[in-house]
Amino acid sequence: MNIVILAAGKGTRMRSALPKVLHPVGGLPMLMHVIQTAQTLKPKKLIIVIGHGAEQVKAVCEDLASADSAIAWVVQDPPLGTGHALQQTVPYLEPGLPTLVLYGDVPLMSGVTLARLAQTAAAHQGMAVLTARLDSPTGYGRILRNAKGQIISVVEEKDADAATRAIDEINTGTLMAPTSDLIGWLARLDNKNVQQEFYLTDIIGIAAAEGRVIGTAAPDHLFEILGVNSQSQRAEVERHYQRQLAASAMAQGVALADPARFDVRGHLQCGPEVSIDVGCIFEGRVVLEANVSIGPHCLIRNARIGAGSRIEAFSSIEDADIGAQAVIGPYARLRPGTVLDEGVHVGNFVEIKNSRLGPHSKANHLSYLGDASIGARVNIGAGTITCNYDGADKHRTVIEDDVFIGSDSQLVAPVTVGRGATLGAGTTLTQDAPPDQLTVSRTRQLSIARWKRPKKKAH
Ligand code: UD1
Ligand code: CA
Repeated sequence: MNIVILAAGKGTRMRSALPKVLHPVGGLPMLMHVIQTAQTLKPKKLIIVIGHGAEQVKAVCEDLASADSAIAWVVQDPPLGTGHALQQTVPYLEPGLPTLVLYGDVPLMSGVTLARLAQTAAAHQGMAVLTARLDSPTGYGRILRNAKGQIISVVEEKDADAATRAIDEINTGTLMAPTSDLIGWLARLDNKNVQQEFYLTDIIGIAAAEGRVIGTAAPDHLFEILGVNSQSQRAEVERHYQRQLAASAMAQGVALADPARFDVRGHLQCGPEVSIDVGCIFEGRVVLEANVSIGPHCLIRNARIGAGSRIEAFSSIEDADIGAQAVIGPYARLRPGTVLDEGVHVGNFVEIKNSRLGPHSKANHLSYLGDASIGARVNIGAGTITCNYDGADKHRTVIEDDVFIGSDSQLVAPVTVGRGATLGAGTTLTQDAPPDQLTVSRTRQLSIARWKRPKKKAH
């Protein structure tokens, strides 16, 4: 089939400089959801009509779409209505195949629903419309049927009289038609209506007048047809999307503390016995292996969390690989390039960047570890800082296996602490510390016996 996605509209009501179809749902531009759903139907041709912000829309989507998806981009300028938008695509349509029309601002439409629409079309000489019955149909085009129950036309809300507005069956905008007929019908559209636009919906009336019987199909879920015209509708659609992801995670056995406070902006993969507390955000590709537990209000982006690990409240982890049985947080910040081996403990207010910690090493309190290679069973005392930046360049700190770093130490990189070494508390390390020895850089402690503390003068 041919699939056309209409995405040239301005989206004025979003009150944003970003083209409407690029506003995200689940971290992905709305239009990308529609493109991905279209691709599940394996169309021969995929044509997208753009207009407002055309260059930006095209650049963003081409970057995100899979390389093998051949998309034909057609610019509609100025936008004179949905029918006019479809007219621009006529030269690109394969006339022997049916054409499916989708809207770029209706991101939750499912492939299952579209496949049903295609089946319905096949049973009606190739023509079917997706409709729905709504409690509050305001704003949508209404479906008019004759005494036999056959569709005779679609009337836009702005052109409808009171009786038509009372009809609760609405046009979702999604339709399928035989392409050669469609091209003929499009040529006959006019803009004699309240909005002075060329309405795609008018082809329904034209086809019915030719005696065509038009099939109708309904969506699986009503939220599939929701269009986004405002920030509040975007947020509503976002919640439906997240609810769906939450439901499928729970069906798979994930223990979600509250499915209404769960956000995936990308792809989350969970093993068995995973639990996730409220307010967590998962971005990019995240893998939670078996028995992982995530505490409240964590942000996890592009990371693997190994089996049995526990991430405690308010921790943030990005571009990181966490081994099995780790204990992270609360309030830990693992920045890009953090690799933790099995059984590592990272405690509160510890920041790690571009560093590896070997098996069973611990940094439990208030540290900065940047550009460091840390071996196995190392203990990093509270307040330890790697001084990795000299104002111009970054340097590495190497801490070998079984080292004990005393609290409040500074390691001025580049520097190496040899295997089994101990640094006394408060050491400022500027040269390599030899293995198995105690290195201390403090001055000796001194007490002054007859010293008197100054006293305030009495008035
Ligand atoms: C349209 C339907 C209406 C239906 C509703 C469902 C028409 C005339 N009306 O109304 O029956 O109930 O959708 O949501 O089709 N677009 C272009 N070029 C244009 C105009 C629009 O590409 O010149 C695109 C928009 O970017 C959008 C889609 O077409 O993705 C729908 O346009 P919109 O103006 O939102 O249509 P509605 O007035 O909501
Ligand atoms: Ca409109």
